[in-house]
Amino acid sequence: MKKIMLTSFTLSLVLIGCSDTESDRQSQDSPMNNNHMRGEDNDNRGMGGMNNRGMGGMMNQGNIPALESSSGINELMIPPVLEKQQGEDFDYEVTAQEGSTQFFAGIPTDTYGYNGNLLGPTVRLQEGESVDVKITNDLDEPTTFHWHGLEVPGEIDGGPHGEIQPGDSQIITLEADQPAATLWYHPHVHGTTAEQVFKGLSGMLLIDEAAGSDSELPDDYGVDDIPLIFQDRLFDEDQQLNYNRLMNFDGTLGDISMVNGTINPKLTVTKSVMRFRLLNGANARNYTFRLSNGASFTQIASDGSLLDEAVETDTLTLAASERAEIVIDFSTMTDEESLAILNDEGAELLPFDVVLDDSPAGSTEMRTVDEPFLSEQEKAMPVTKEIELFGMADMVTINGKKFDMDRIDLRQERGVTEVWEVYNRPDMMGGMIHPFHIHGTQFKIISRDGKETEPNEQGLKDSVLVEPDERVKLLVTFPEEGIFVFHCHILEHEDNGMMGQVEVY
Ligand code: C2O
Ligand code: CU
Ligand code: CU
Repeated sequence: MKKIMLTSFTLSLVLIGCSDTESDRQSQDSPMNNNHMRGEDNDNRGMGGMNNRGMGGMMNQGNIPALESSSGINELMIPPVLEKQQGEDFDYEVTAQEGSTQFFAGIPTDTYGYNGNLLGPTVRLQEGESVDVKITNDLDEPTTFHWHGLEVPGEIDGGPHGEIQPGDSQIITLEADQPAATLWYHPHVHGTTAEQVFKGLSGMLLIDEAAGSDSELPDDYGVDDIPLIFQDRLFDEDQQLNYNRLMNFDGTLGDISMVNGTINPKLTVTKSVMRFRLLNGANARNYTFRLSNGASFTQIASDGSLLDEAVETDTLTLAASERAEIVIDFSTMTDEESLAILNDEGAELLPFDVVLDDSPAGSTEMRTVDEPFLSEQEKAMPVTKEIELFGMADMVTINGKKFDMDRIDLRQERGVTEVWEVYNRPDMMGGMIHPFHIHGTQFKIISRDGKETEPNEQGLKDSVLVEPDERVKLLVTFPEEGIFVFHCHILEHEDNGMMGQVEVY
């Protein structure tokens, strides 16, 4: 068992540049960079096969719009925790609805949200808990409610089969029969997923450790346990999220960074040891996070579980839909220092305003894990399912085919473990990263090109970044029956048919 104890000491105020005003924000802002729109980006990749995950994007950075640094004028919005209903025949209610958000002073932007104008409340379940959730579609178009990473039966998974028509509701039972993790929820209508997410439909879904766990982690939501939803957005000249005009077939990228829906965020922190739950909620962008002072931080969780052992690192790459939990120790900072989370190109995504108080020293202690991440027998299992990812733009396929809701591509028996090998076949231009995601399961990565899984991926996963020409072996078990999709989580690739179906029987 690895044990990390972090002690705190008091720091005086550290001020981080935050002098911009709302009007500055606005005059600086004419995000009209549409250079990467459809048709103009066909040389947008290359560097295929370059196999350094730490370097992040791997696509040719030239045509990826750089993110603007946060000016830090807005305190980060923390999504509220979804409250339990009293006296109803369901526990929680989640409604997809239209709204309006003031990203820019005085200008309303049309957005979508769950139970609000933008994004959604954080759904919190305990390990083992089962709740009834009323889902309602108040939009003018069909939507679905997909619980990304939750191992639920196909019927209520909210994939493309689970359309809810405008005005309709349904009550479903969600069971958190899996380890504590940072999951999320979003729509999944075939053909309009990317647009609905782009307009604001996403929320966090947390599974908390059941009482009695021997781990000790910051878990005071919004205080020392902070959700961070990273997204990039492109606005038109009217500051609207005009998807049809702005979209890119290879994934809509923007120059405006938002965290939890906040543009130009800063986070005031008062604790020495803080836990952050990072979600790459972008349509397509890969993020490589680091701290502005170069310090290391501690990764404690992957997509679907805590890691077996905490990992010290100074960079962390997440492809679209991947999550990680990290712990940052602010106690080592001096008065003069400022700190921010940066992406790989150096843009400040989230500056911190560090105001340490006399709160007791925090500690981070991982739970005890007795078994190795993979047994010898698991490592030696033969490949029984092969997946080939190929293409770009609207020419994307899995195993040479585009998605067909009436076609079952694979079948796997419930509870039976199989090895899936996912190969990202490069094209003449080199190819591009595809984040591969499977519904209804939390899998383990057995190997990448035959090489053992890195320590920071030795936890359960539901999405995996696959480099061009890379072969990734996954150990996959489905605990529930039904039809589940698997797909590239670049949402435009998914909408363009880079998706297949597995029937679990
Ligand atoms: Cu994030 Cu098919 O889902
Ligand atoms: Cu999913
Ligand atoms: Cu893709």
